[in-house]
Amino acid sequence: MWSPGAAPAMANKRIIVAADLAALVEQAAKRIADRIGQAGDRAAICATGGSTPKPVYERLAKEPYRSELPWDRTHWFWGDDRFVALEDDRSNAGMTINALLAQVSVPDANIHPIPTGAATPEEAARIYQAELRRFYGRDQLDPAAPLFDLVLLGLGSDGHTASLFPGLAAVEETDRWAVGVDPAGLAPFVPRVTLTFAALASTREMLFLVCGEGKREVLGRVLAGENLPATRATATGELVWLVDRDAAPDEARSRGKFR
Ligand code: 6PG
Repeated sequence: MWSPGAAPAMANKRIIVAADLAALVEQAAKRIADRIGQAGDRAAICATGGSTPKPVYERLAKEPYRSELPWDRTHWFWGDDRFVALEDDRSNAGMTINALLAQVSVPDANIHPIPTGAATPEEAARIYQAELRRFYGRDQLDPAAPLFDLVLLGLGSDGHTASLFPGLAAVEETDRWAVGVDPAGLAPFVPRVTLTFAALASTREMLFLVCGEGKREVLGRVLAGENLPATRATATGELVWLVDRDAAPDEARSRGKFR
């Protein structure tokens, strides 16, 4: 466990430094598989977009996971999506479906993309919140019964996660589970829909995946507790930062936390 100086003490937070991207992919796939295996009748996974998770999804579509995981018991949601059609290359749900869900036996009814065909991002957020509440069976989140078994997240170069960008009111939202977001200052420049930290936090495990030297500086700021969106992420269960060695801040590297 590595507790950076200025960060608020969180007993459930830890950072794991993988030797390289290939090791990160293996460890992430294993953690996802373990969560699916540990879930009861159904496993609710909240997927993420961006480039880092794609090889992880591709890994899960291969053996042994392809044959061994109870895919028909998994349900897939997304922490955010770009307001584009599922067939669009920029769609987070489309990417996950192509890389993983279409390759394994997940029933269509278990795939819950953000409805980007709605009239507006706000409308899509309302529909998605209602769908999440239906799935959960209640309108209020109970810390004793997390909505998700696993929430995957990434870290943007400006400290955003999901589509919770610096300065957005959505970062502070404590009531709604999903909100619409105007185009942010980062590509792709399209409106988005994002879950809020209130909903994302309701999980047995929150797993951030961060790789590459380009993320080292911002990751250091987040882990040091600077006021950036990703710093505000909490989880009712475990909060794990799985990062590769290139992205790891010096303090984490020098303590030799490589696994
Ligand atoms: C998105 C994401 C976003 C992403 C980060 C990191 O829709 O783009 O959900 O929050 O996770 O920007 O992306 P990379 O993995 O590509 O660095």
